[in-house]
Formats: sequence, structure tokens, C-alpha cells
Amino acid sequence: MNRKASILYVDDEVENLEVFEATFWRNYNLHLAQSADEGLHILEHYPVNLIITDQRMPNITGIEFLEKIPERHKETVRILLTGFSDIDTVIDAVNRGKINHYVTKPWNKAELSRVIENSLEMHRIKEENAYLLQQLQLSNARLQNINSNLEGTVDERTRELQEKNTLLEEAFEKLKTTHSKLIHSEKLATLGMLSAAIGHEINNPIGFVKGQIAMLQRNFKELQSASGEDKVRLENEIGISIEEANQGIIQVSEIIRSLKYFAGEGQLKPYMANIYSGINSTLKLFSGVLYDNHITLERNFQSEECNIEALHTALNQVFSNIITNAIDAINEKVTTNNLVNFPGKIVISTTQNDEEILITFKDNGIGMTDDVLENIFNPFFTTKNEGSGIGMSICQDVVNEHNGKINIKTHPGLGSDITVAIPRR
Ligand SMILES: Nc1ncnc2c1ncn2[C@@H]1O[C@H](COP(=O)(O)OP(=O)(O)O)[C@@H](O)[C@H]1O
Ligand SMILES: [Mg+2]
Repeated sequence: MNRKASILYVDDEVENLEVFEATFWRNYNLHLAQSADEGLHILEHYPVNLIITDQRMPNITGIEFLEKIPERHKETVRILLTGFSDIDTVIDAVNRGKINHYVTKPWNKAELSRVIENSLEMHRIKEENAYLLQQLQLSNARLQNINSNLEGTVDERTRELQEKNTLLEEAFEKLKTTHSKLIHSEKLATLGMLSAAIGHEINNPIGFVKGQIAMLQRNFKELQSASGEDKVRLENEIGISIEEANQGIIQVSEIIRSLKYFAGEGQLKPYMANIYSGINSTLKLFSGVLYDNHITLERNFQSEECNIEALHTALNQVFSNIITNAIDAINEKVTTNNLVNFPGKIVISTTQNDEEILITFKDNGIGMTDDVLENIFNPFFTTKNEGSGIGMSICQDVVNEHNGKINIKTHPGLGSDITVAIPRR
């Protein structure tokens, strides 16, 4: 590859061209032109690094020639050769940026060589600068591109995440309402199961009260015509009837109170109450069902008082879910094994200290396999044909909300112990 710089030299005098050629041919690639047109022609066809032109030519001045040089040679270094008398024009040309240097004629080799070398060096530096600048601009552009892509990606990811988040929030809201609906339906199911037995339970005392009232009416009529011992006897009987009727009414109202206690919409804020009132009301509701299923209930309470701040309605649902499961477990054992007169039994015991109260529901039902035990708290897990599978999951939610624990011990075929531990705070 020829690494010599290319120089175009334009001069109308052939001798000048010859001297120039003789002086510089070793050092540069020379293009010699005798007129501006020839010069332009060369520029069109060859790469040229440096243009040297004479100012005084017959048809055109050097500066005019330089003005005709096409745009793509704008950066090519130009040197003007002038006579002394042209200096003002030349200075003007320099100022207007048409030439980079000028050399007065007649030139000597040393001076012209120096100017050519300096000009070429300057040109080289300029080109290098331009190249570096271009590279810098390219890199910048690339960086900007990457940056804006990055911003776009980050934006997009953020938006995606936000969208997902909204979806999740919506799903969570839906889940919460579904969950509370489920809790409610589980409660209704229990109430449905209980209602027949509760009807019985209410009918008994009401029948009893009716009887007492009939007796009262009769005795009261007789009392009006009675005297002496008879009158005293009747007055005593009336007193007893009133007392018994009153007891019957109290029983009914207790059942109704228990029902209200159980069915109450779960209160949102914990409040202070005796947890035993909840346990006893729940048990009262179940007494008819237990009786109908030939299941005996044993209470083994350490105390009758334990005040805790809690969601008591929710805790009652926990007790009722566990008792329902215990009844189911006993019935299942009876049916699967075709047992006759099986003494089904549920024992409810409590122990308490300053820190917590433990309530254990022990049944002698079917018990649980490892598989059942592993899944018991999973929502919708059920081994029953008509089961909802959410009873125990509700229990766990409620107990967790009270920072408590549910502990299960079970022996397949023999029964289960389910212990609810609630901290007293
Ligand atoms: N005391 C218990 N004895 C035996 N199995 C039980 C007992 N309690 C719960 N289980 C098992 O756990 C499952 C889930 O109970 P639960 O969440 O209350 O739903 P469901 O009663 O509707 O099936 C029951 O189907 C049953 O297999
Ligand atoms: Mg259940």
C-alpha cells in the first residue's frame, strides 16, 4: 500500500510544475495540473490530501479555484503560492478560511517542505480528531440507545409488576370475601344440623311450662273456693308451679341466648369475656344432637372462669366445628364397623394458667390416618361425602388470629384429641 500523502499542485507555468515535481516526487504522490479545470478533474478522480495552488493564473485566481473545489474536499488542506504584492488578498483568504497556509514566491525547498509537512500533520490530526469525535458520537449514541432501552425495559417490568400486583390484590380481596362467605356457610350448615335437635330442646321445656300453666289455672280456680288446709296446699302447689314454669322459661331463653351467641355475625374487635360462657353455650346447643346420636359428653374443666380478650363468636365456631367433627368421627366408626350400642363419648377438658388456656376435645371416634392428619387444615380437604372441608381450616385461621395453636393427637380406629391453646395475653 502506498502510504505517501497525495498532493495536487496547480500552476500555469510548466517550469514551476517541473521544479516542484523534481523537488518532491520522492516524498509524495504528486498530481500536477496546469489549469484550474485540470485540477478539478484530478480532484474528482484521485484522493488528494493537500492542494497547493498558484494565486496568479491567466483565467482564474488561485482563491477562485479554491472556491470551486467541491464540498467533499472541504477539509483538504490548501496552500496558496503568492507574490509579495498579493499579501492583503491572501490575508483576507486566510481569514475567510479558504486557505490554511500561504507561501510567497519564489518558494525555497526548505520552507515549502516545512509548510507541507506541518499542513499534512495538521490535517492528519484534524482527521484523527474527526474520527475520534465520530467514534465518541457513535458510542454516545449507542449508550443512549442502551440507556433508553434499559429505561424502557425497567418501565415495562415495573408496569408488569404493578399490573400483577393489582391482579393479586383483587384476587386477595375476592378470596377474603369468598372466605368469609365460606365461614358463614359453614356456620349455617352447623345451625342447620343443630336446628332439629334445638327444636326438641326448646319443645321440652315449653311443653313442661304449658303443663305447669294448665295446672296453675286449675289450682287458681280451686283456690278461690278453698279454705283451711286445702287453701294452704293449693297455695304451695301454685308456688311450685310458678317456680318450675320459671325454670322452663329460663332453659328456653338460655338456648336462645346460646343460639344468638353462636349465630352472631363475627364481631370485628376482640372483647373481654369469660371463655367458659362460650364453651358452655356451644355445648348447650349440641346437647340435643349429642343425645340423638347416643353420645355422652363429659366436662372436665379446671375452672369455670377464664376471662380473655378475644373474638368470642369466632372461638365458639372453633369449638362447634371441632365438636361436629368429633360427632362425625364417632358416627363414622359406628357405621363402618356396624357397631351396636357403641358408647360414643366426647370429653372436653380445660387446663389454664396465667399464660394460656388449653381446651382439649377428646373423642373415641374413627381417628385419623397420617394422610388425613397431614391435610386436615387444608381448605376443602374432606373425607366425608357431604363435607365442606373448611371446618378445620377456619379453626386454624381463628386460632392463629389469637396467636394460639391447635395440636392433634390421634390413633386410627381409636379416636382423637384436639387441643386448642389460646394465650391469655
Ligand atoms: N375428630 C376427628 N376425628 C377424625 N377425623 C377428623 C376429626 N376432625 C377432622 N377430621 C378429618 O378432617 C377432615 C376435615 O375436617 P373439616 O375441615 O372439619 O371438614 P369436614 O368436616 O367438612 O370434612 C374431615 O373430613 C375428617 O376426615
Ligand atoms: Mg367439619
